[in-house]
Amino acid sequence: MSRRYSNELIEQIKEANDIVNVISEYVPLKKKGRNYWGCCPFHNEKTPSFSVTPEKGFYYCFGCHASGTVINFLMQEEGLSFPEALGKLAERAGIPLPEEELTDVERRQNEKRRRLYEINELAANFFHNCLTKTEMGKVGLEYFQKRGLSRETIDKFRLGYAPDSWDKLYRAFTERKIPEAYLLKLGLVRKNDNGRVYDYFRNRVMFPICDGKGRVVGFGGRVLDDSTPKYLNSPETEIFNKGHLLFAFDKAYKTIRRTKQAILVEGYMDVISAHNAGVTNVVASLGTAYTKDHGRLLMRQAEEIILAYDMDGAGRKAVRRAIDLLQNTDFKVRVLAMPDGKDPDDYVSNHGRDGFLTIIDKAIPPFEFLLNQAMIGHDSTDMAGKQAILDELFPFISHTENSVKRDSYLRALALPLWLDMGTIRQSFKEFTRRGRITLVSEAQPVKTLIEPDSDETYIVAQAVQFPKAWQMVHDYVEDKDIVQEVYRTLLATCGKVLQETGGLSSAALETVLSEEEKTAYSRLLVLTDTQFDEIRLEESIRRLRIQSLRRQYKEHSIAADKMSRAGDTAFIEELKKCQEIQKEIQEWS
Ligand code: UTP
Ligand code: MN
Repeated sequence: MSRRYSNELIEQIKEANDIVNVISEYVPLKKKGRNYWGCCPFHNEKTPSFSVTPEKGFYYCFGCHASGTVINFLMQEEGLSFPEALGKLAERAGIPLPEEELTDVERRQNEKRRRLYEINELAANFFHNCLTKTEMGKVGLEYFQKRGLSRETIDKFRLGYAPDSWDKLYRAFTERKIPEAYLLKLGLVRKNDNGRVYDYFRNRVMFPICDGKGRVVGFGGRVLDDSTPKYLNSPETEIFNKGHLLFAFDKAYKTIRRTKQAILVEGYMDVISAHNAGVTNVVASLGTAYTKDHGRLLMRQAEEIILAYDMDGAGRKAVRRAIDLLQNTDFKVRVLAMPDGKDPDDYVSNHGRDGFLTIIDKAIPPFEFLLNQAMIGHDSTDMAGKQAILDELFPFISHTENSVKRDSYLRALALPLWLDMGTIRQSFKEFTRRGRITLVSEAQPVKTLIEPDSDETYIVAQAVQFPKAWQMVHDYVEDKDIVQEVYRTLLATCGKVLQETGGLSSAALETVLSEEEKTAYSRLLVLTDTQFDEIRLEESIRRLRIQSLRRQYKEHSIAADKMSRAGDTAFIEELKKCQEIQKEIQEWS
């Protein structure tokens, strides 16, 4: 993959993109000492364990061990391939990437994606113009107005109308020489059994769906009356993945970042009504339930997620699923149990911004929500009902990692169920035994402590960066002096690269290091100094050798002792080794 680009080009692009600048666009970083620190974007955390070293152009997370160069960062953060990430950085720095560097397949794929975005963009304009500028769009405009949307909101979301005609879009677009295959692929048109092509969305109000960058990736289209299906949606394509996307995230993320709160709703209209009323931290997962990828998307911006789903059967189920996925993450989660089966859209329309903000304030923690739901669902006055309520809550409680919280949940059940703590604890025990559930123990606190600058770390860090240091280590340090195995293989790989390329450039290393070696490599770079320091290195090698020799001395003397007790005369050999080691120690001291 990366081999097609010359190492010089890769280095040039990396140098032209300051790693701190690039990463700062995603994560706030603070300078501390030589490095910059922030909260890791790749796992949920509140105390920064994500470190960037500008001099060396590497990042490393002490919590989840994510690591690499500015290129790896973009790959990980945006899900890009190596060439894509490189291309993006080249563009950012204004460095032209030689076209030949792309394979034909990649060039065709890029071109295809570009076309898909472009055609969706045209379609969004087409629908929006129909709605706002044509006679036939009047029904759509009236529909939105009836639902209380302002002209500003209609423009902001580029809402539209698909005309009540078989093939208006199809004809307009083929006239503009847009290939039918693309229209079919995007689901804007369909072909019937007779081979006739027709518009997929007809006589529907249209909701463009945008990705995080505001590019139109698909559409939802709603009927104007009560007929079914209520909504039609574009099919998934290479530019439209529902599980990765939150509706209106492109319009909400600034407010989410400012307020640290995201309100998650179910429907297009819930989002739009809220924004229309001035509540702009609202997004929706599209028809699909909340997924982990949605969480990843929100993670960087939000501390709190409010689940504001419809309180019908499907909505309640979706809330449960979301609670499950959000449990034990760093998100603070609250659930908004909308009064009398209304959805957020109804509520905002009837009570306005302030009314909506007031009930958001009253959103409750997940446990309370689940308890309320269980109490509603079962008769808490008879024993079978009590048991059913317990069984509904135990899964949540048993998944809670924090044992203090777990216990407080159990205690919170006593009063509403009129049960004593002994009974509840006993029943919980039976539940975990029945399901063979081992209670999750307190999550290991993430080790953010940096290991003290050990000689081993320092030596390996120098050796993987500077050929001279590598040579010194090669000449004086033995394999068994190095305790960590990954360091041993890392040194060996560096040796090979040094031999082949005459240097230790990180671009060259990157193509040959194993995943484990790469992680160790990045970690070393953020941990230690930049300069080659011969004197300090010598000093470290000396200490490391002595330490290692003492270790070996001890091993041999223990062996000798054992053997002599057992009457094995080979103990003399062991003693000789001890003497040799002793001599060597003296030499090094
Ligand atoms: P709802 O049925 O709750 O619709 O579906 P809604 O958003 O409240 O719409 P209005 O208020 O009646 O206009 C919630 C979401 O589920 C998806 C849509 O994304 C919708 O916004 N859905 C629903 C579909 O994709 N297809 C359907 O037929 C129905
Ligand atoms: Mn609705």
